[in-house]
Amino acid sequence: MLELNYKPVLPARMDCGIGICGAGGIVNDAHLPAYRKAGFKVRGIFDLDGDKAEQTAARYEIPKVYSSLEELAGDPVVQIVDVAVPATQTHGVVEVVAGAGKALLLQKPLAEDLETARRTVALLESHRVLAAVNQQLRWDPGVRACSDLIGRGLLGEVYNLSLLIFVDTPWHLWGWLKEKATIDVLYHSIHYLDAIRFLTGAQPERLYADGSTCPGYDARGETRVCLHLGFAGQLRATVLTNHHVAFGLEGQQSELRVEGTEGAVIRRLGLLMNYPKGVSDGFRYTCRGLAKGQWLSTELEGSWFPDAFVGPMASLMRALAGEIAAPETAVQDNLKTLELVFAAYESMRSGQVVRL
Ligand SMILES: NC(=O)c1ccc[n+]([C@@H]2O[C@H](COP(=O)([O-])OP(=O)(O)OC[C@H]3O[C@@H](n4cnc5c(N)ncnc54)[C@H](O)[C@@H]3O)[C@@H](O)[C@H]2O)c1
Repeated sequence: MLELNYKPVLPARMDCGIGICGAGGIVNDAHLPAYRKAGFKVRGIFDLDGDKAEQTAARYEIPKVYSSLEELAGDPVVQIVDVAVPATQTHGVVEVVAGAGKALLLQKPLAEDLETARRTVALLESHRVLAAVNQQLRWDPGVRACSDLIGRGLLGEVYNLSLLIFVDTPWHLWGWLKEKATIDVLYHSIHYLDAIRFLTGAQPERLYADGSTCPGYDARGETRVCLHLGFAGQLRATVLTNHHVAFGLEGQQSELRVEGTEGAVIRRLGLLMNYPKGVSDGFRYTCRGLAKGQWLSTELEGSWFPDAFVGPMASLMRALAGEIAAPETAVQDNLKTLELVFAAYESMRSGQVVRL
């Protein structure tokens, strides 16, 4: 059986100090469990809601609760500020933290519009601080394993990627999100667009998007989408989501498919089915060069949540230590993902294909 290379590369030194800004759901359910498993050092935490910061600190044995963002940013034991606040708050947090010269890991989406995202990146560049975005799907064990197969040439020329997501998403868990005019692409499929860019190493030339919701559903923005990305040559990628498939687990699907001239991969992202409990992930692949006509199945360790959250932080730490030139999901790279997100909304509005 082929040994697949899919685990995140950790920094040589593990003593880089993390200060967390935001003690909400994702920090408690994903950042901190992942960092604990990896052995990262969280030095302190701040939240506008002091009680939440206190509770999270107690739960994860974080030694310090700061009374202000300035205090966090100024703490000499903190080298990286890990920001997980609503996107509308991110630019303001960056102003303080970048001003203090600290590196940042920012949650996706970097901003709710492209202009603000570009202003945030310009601000970070003016302070010469390193910053990355938490697009952790790239570090999902199955996405990494797929990238390994592509890198070894075992899939041949990759010409088709599809994300087929037919699930029953409990949007009511995020009441604030249902009020947004832009939901699925900006907050969910952004991960797929980023993973497609990662796996193909290419930027599409054109994009078509259609967004809608379920009849009678009261969300303001789109909760079902069809995205189609055309690249140079024969390469195409499609994202199909419907978050209203509420007829039990049978008939649901949550899959990344990658097809090449010499092989194919099917990755099941189990978390999205029966969320937030999830079902098991899956990873199946076939390569003519390995075992013609045979599909192989491999158990990969870890999952998209929380394990993949190690990746963006490890990559930022490595860049900060000079082990790599830039974090893999550097803010500059993330603008290219956001360009696709906002092209999708332009396409939805106009009903036309957007040339990129
Ligand atoms: N990468 C992923 O897969 C993923 C998953 C879920 C959420 N997210 C992102 O993470 C961010 C947080 O999401 P969440 O679900 O934890 O939200 P949440 O509402 O549970 O938590 C946000 C926290 O930020 C605090 N906060 C707000 N403004 C602040 C400020 N200016 N300074 C300090 N604290 C502030 C709030 O008090 C709250 O505790 C969002 O941007 C969301 O899009 C990413």
